[in-house]
Amino acid sequence: MGSTILLTGAAGYIGSHTAVALAQAGYDLAIVDNCSNSSPIAVERCRELTGADIPFYQADVADKAALMEIFHQVKPAAVMHFSGYKAVGESVAQPLKYYRNNLDTTLSLLECMVQEGVGAFIFSSSATVYGANATVPYRESDPVGGCTNPYGWTKLMIEQIAQDTAAANPNMSVVLLRYFNPVGAHESGRIGENPAGIPNNLMPYITQVAVGKLDHLNIFGNDYDTPDGTGVRDYIHVVDLAQGHVAALKYAIEHTGAEVFNLGTGRGVSVLELVNAFQTVNGVSVPYEFAPRRAGDLASVWADPAKAREILGWTAEKTVEDMVADSWRWQKNNPDGYV
Ligand code: UD1
Repeated sequence: MGSTILLTGAAGYIGSHTAVALAQAGYDLAIVDNCSNSSPIAVERCRELTGADIPFYQADVADKAALMEIFHQVKPAAVMHFSGYKAVGESVAQPLKYYRNNLDTTLSLLECMVQEGVGAFIFSSSATVYGANATVPYRESDPVGGCTNPYGWTKLMIEQIAQDTAAANPNMSVVLLRYFNPVGAHESGRIGENPAGIPNNLMPYITQVAVGKLDHLNIFGNDYDTPDGTGVRDYIHVVDLAQGHVAALKYAIEHTGAEVFNLGTGRGVSVLELVNAFQTVNGVSVPYEFAPRRAGDLASVWADPAKAREILGWTAEKTVEDMVADSWRWQKNNPDGYV
């Protein structure tokens, strides 16, 4: 076994930022991504930002033969699994596509790991796994399940599969990272979130309105039981999130078993607060209208980040101002994404 960290899906938003953070922390990396919803240009920019030679394999993680070949070449010491479909609405319309892809990729990956004796597995889970009975701030010990869409169920199923695999393989170390709402971009403006089509998530929608690609933002609900009536979320800067992965990797290499960590700030921010911060900090206007609530949305979601702080020694450091400034720099400099 070598010392390289193998990243799946790292041509994507969170994976690319984590690749930069890992390379800057001195790790050797390799990336596998089929670029079904991402661009190889992101990998080139990771190389450009870090000066690191990052081997890139354009392959489907579900293709076990291709993946095993990559394992033989890379000889990874650890695996970080970012690849997966992630559009909530699409997962409701095409559940089998989501179950097939998100589970198949994970099963291939874990099988290769067990077969090759690779110990550390770090997975991109989501706060969406918390059940409707969980109350803010969400703690790792809160109930999970009752997901409102197949995307969320795939995250929870993968958590279970990974935990069972760790239980059966005493040398394995599984770290499940439950992300809250990742936003922002690398401060260089060279990598960022690049959604295909009309964005589902709030921040890319805001940036596309600000740059003139979309006419106005619809704010889904202004009658929630929150201070200003709009939904409250725990937005976390993607560079902080990337640093959380560096801390999780160190932990995974030193331990065995399975652990779950929230990666959030512990601070709730409303839709209106985020829109107002975006306008004020960047000096651009984001026209909005109030619209009905979106099905499946909760009033308030934020993390208790104490476990990651105490065990991983990690805390989110960037402010909402950093988030809106960096998201805007990325959008402005790359109005059409990676081209
Ligand atoms: C969503 C997913 C969640 C997933 C996460 C990944 C749902 C119900 N949940 O979280 O499973 O893990 O994305 O990033 O889709 N909003 C607007 N107008 C918009 C878009 C969003 O007002 O055009 C509001 C939403 O109502 C919510 C907040 O902005 O209050 C954040 O929405 P979004 O960015 O989609 O994230 P989540 O719904 O929290």
